[in-house]
Amino acid sequence: MKAKALGIGYCLPERVLTNHDLEKMVETSNEWIIERTGIKERRIVEPGQKNSDLSAEAARRALQDAKIDPLQLDLIIVATASPDMPFPSTACIVQAMLGAKNAAAFDLEAGCTGFIYALSVAEKFLLSPEYNHILIIGCDIVSSVLDYTDRNTCILFGDGAGAMVLGKSEGENGLLCSSIGADGTGGELLCMPAGGSAIPATIESVEKRLHYLRMNGNEIFKFATKIVSQISSELLSKAGMSYDDIDLFVPHQANLRIIQSAMRRMKLPPEKVAINLDVCGNISAGSIPVALGQFNEKTPLKNGANILMVAFGTGLTYGGAILRWGRD
Ligand code: ACO
Repeated sequence: MKAKALGIGYCLPERVLTNHDLEKMVETSNEWIIERTGIKERRIVEPGQKNSDLSAEAARRALQDAKIDPLQLDLIIVATASPDMPFPSTACIVQAMLGAKNAAAFDLEAGCTGFIYALSVAEKFLLSPEYNHILIIGCDIVSSVLDYTDRNTCILFGDGAGAMVLGKSEGENGLLCSSIGADGTGGELLCMPAGGSAIPATIESVEKRLHYLRMNGNEIFKFATKIVSQISSELLSKAGMSYDDIDLFVPHQANLRIIQSAMRRMKLPPEKVAINLDVCGNISAGSIPVALGQFNEKTPLKNGANILMVAFGTGLTYGGAILRWGRD
């Protein structure tokens, strides 16, 4: 038995924040951002628009694509580091919005690797006879934790949600392998210091700007280039494949230079790589499912196509998967 993808969907907010808009907010330039990251614009929620709004809409589209009724869902996992609120989980809120009353629901926090973690966790649940249909969602409203006075971080991220409905396969298609991991010693490289039990919210914590994302970009960059290569080759050897067998590479959309370095190493031509960070920036847990959904819209994935997905993020976490596309 394999977990197989029955349907996908994504949802982006309407509002576009361009590099030129950011030029008016911090000391930066369109040229610097494009040259150092590849990002031109990103989508940002309107005030009042929440994680669950985007998550539920992405889910509805994935369910429609999968031709699955919300009542058929046994489990909903929302991978996010920017939930509607600390509790209840965004997954429970989405469950209510969808009317998926038969589904258990929980959030999963693995930063930008969240969608891959969710895929890997869902696969384990699907091994049980009690779980037949699982909805996984990767959604982040990164703009809600960004310091728009910090040019090192505010230029990089955007908001969005991507969803996938998973079922069971006895055939050739489905999840061929997945791998997840963490190096907790790197936690301080990308964190939001306050708002949890370590530093509960106080006037002082707000004044010290501790409720915003903080990042050591150079160290994350080094970690990312190394780990993307490591996971990709581990997965290929697990699946008994070579880079030539990969029909589509969907990397975490953090920086074009990280993606290009992976493409050079794998000798992958541009048409085999899903890239949307130029128009979406880094959507964290939403990054991979939105990139996959947008690619599939432009170039519908063929039955049997081998998709390699690789991500890294706060934690530090990392993970990847090879999915053979097709619903039969
Ligand atoms: N505009 C103009 N100048 C800037 C900006 C900006 N927006 N940001 C930084 N600079 C300046 C710096 O201050 C520095 O100036 P200095 O030399 O006078 O000190 C100079 O540009 C170079 O800074 P670097 O940090 O060395 O620039 P670098 O080329 O490394 O690019 C970047 C920085 C884009 C953050 C890069 O390190 C990166 O992408 N890292 C990975 C980040 C990442 O992937 N994060 C998320 C991963 S996990 C997740 O997705 C949640």
